[in-house]
Amino acid sequence: MCGIIGYLGNQDTKNILLNGLKKLEYRGYDSIGIATITASQELSITKTSGKFPTLKKAIVDHPTNNLYGIGHTRWATHGKPSKTNSHPHSDCTQKIAVVHNGIIENYQELREKLTISGHNIVSETDSECIPHIIEDYIAKGHSISQATQLTASRLEGSNAVVVSHITEDPVKLIAFKSGNAGGVVIGYSKNATFVASDITPLIEHTSQFTYLNSGEIAYISENNVEFKSLKTSDVLQKEKVILQVNNKSTQKGTYKHYMLKEIHEQPQSIVNTMKDRLFTAPAKIDLSDCNLDISRLKNIERIILIGMGSSLHAAMVGKIWIEQFTGIPVDIDNASEFRYRNPVINENTLVISVCQSGETADTLGAMEIAKAKKAYQITLTNYLETQSTRLANSYIHLRTGTEIGVASTKTFLSSMAALFILGLFLGNERKTIPNINLNQTILSLNQIPEKLNQLLSQESLYTPLAKTLSKYRNFLILGRGLNYPIGMEGALKLKELSYIHAEGYPAGELKHGPISLIDQNIPIIAIAPQDSLYPKMMTTISEIAARNGNIIVLTTEGNTEIKNFAEHIIYLPEIDELLSPFLTAVPLQLLSYYVGISKGYNVDQPRHLAKSVTVE
Ligand code: F6R
Repeated sequence: MCGIIGYLGNQDTKNILLNGLKKLEYRGYDSIGIATITASQELSITKTSGKFPTLKKAIVDHPTNNLYGIGHTRWATHGKPSKTNSHPHSDCTQKIAVVHNGIIENYQELREKLTISGHNIVSETDSECIPHIIEDYIAKGHSISQATQLTASRLEGSNAVVVSHITEDPVKLIAFKSGNAGGVVIGYSKNATFVASDITPLIEHTSQFTYLNSGEIAYISENNVEFKSLKTSDVLQKEKVILQVNNKSTQKGTYKHYMLKEIHEQPQSIVNTMKDRLFTAPAKIDLSDCNLDISRLKNIERIILIGMGSSLHAAMVGKIWIEQFTGIPVDIDNASEFRYRNPVINENTLVISVCQSGETADTLGAMEIAKAKKAYQITLTNYLETQSTRLANSYIHLRTGTEIGVASTKTFLSSMAALFILGLFLGNERKTIPNINLNQTILSLNQIPEKLNQLLSQESLYTPLAKTLSKYRNFLILGRGLNYPIGMEGALKLKELSYIHAEGYPAGELKHGPISLIDQNIPIIAIAPQDSLYPKMMTTISEIAARNGNIIVLTTEGNTEIKNFAEHIIYLPEIDELLSPFLTAVPLQLLSYYVGISKGYNVDQPRHLAKSVTVE
């Protein structure tokens, strides 16, 4: 959700904040703003609804002689995008500026009290309460540090907040975090300290970071950062972690969009996820980098996979693999449902969460439930040192590099790869892998990047097809087995990028209702590689053709019979049946991308979406 940046140092604060916000735009992009404190002790706020270019224009008159400041990209929760609702928010004295990510659950009550006591609340946001409460505590004689800590204790819900203010006090920026609000990370460089919602805007400045946990507050002054517990005020000794992150993965290079770049990075992402984990002759799966507790894993009686959105779809594919490799019953659950239904779990349950960002509020909420019930937890993540890696017993790092496009692509494929590897590992440890040659399976896995490259080399085919398809308002995407979740993922991509209504269905379900939708106005994409379920898919395709349906088929190279049924055919390289989702997902990504482009939409930042969903 919202992106946050703060800076205290001897470089040009305005520029540092602006560059940071450009990097953070993928988190939220309906409004944007900065607040700085000038050398002459003035608080200047420039903010606007709209995206980065609008702020860049608006900021021309913003002072340049700044000492420190904060910035924010917003994803609206309370109050629609407008200049007034944009962050930073200030108090009645115009001395305090605040940026916020999260939801203050008791804000109505706080707002009412503040209004009655004479505060002028100008926005519709929950966030604006924060500077006004701080103002009240300062009026009672508290320092800014005490006032902020007291204010934090009044806020219910999950909140990440950075405060800046005009002051003689050495503490210039204060950051705190409560609940499962998105990340708060402090970055250190020579003569400067940064604070941000994630490391993306900081990696060009530093590789040294400290992450705030829930219930912690950081007081940032020129030569020092002091950490305390919000509850007890005890001083905390927190370590600095060194993270070497490739700066290139946050740049677009020669690609028109991050999403296209990330689609093309998928062969390499798969290599990265598998690297040093899979070996052949003799076959070996090495997950020693994941700190798995083998003795606990041997006692697992049940597995539950959780996630949201694309990560849930990856989990749905993973369920089939893991069940097949381990013989253990595997359930799948949407994290936002799991967390509120008192699931039956015990210490012999393995909960696997798929959460590339490590920040998704619902997945974290579900993980907390699993932790309280003593389940063993493995999380799949693209970012170390996040809340999800702290909650889980073990983690599998996806290693795809930063994904900036809001719609998941390379993290989706890498999540599936990690689940496949984990399933093989568990099956191998428990000696339950049925009838498959492990060595051969690993060799086939190693072929995925090359096959993906073959698919991607046919990218030019998608532009004309997307143009034809962009005029339709509804789509159905049908698949079976491993390709049913891929149909759902394809439908999600179409919705996100082209704002077209699309549904992913198990092909067998067609006759139970959706068949009545068939006419020439609803293209039906059938995912039908020539595998063991192909005859079943062919039956469905014939039934659609018999009703004069508009059919697009994804099938294996060399399939000639399909020409009699389909209006458009997308051919896939041949691959081991178990691995087909790695290939079938990609044409649906490309198709959605090009339909979005042909409709003139911003595919990197689809409307209303945000990359990390840090609120419920
Ligand atoms: C869709 C998409 C989202 C995410 C979902 C979970 O393209 O990106 O559906 O997959 O918000 O995100 P993580 O994996 O960070 O928990």
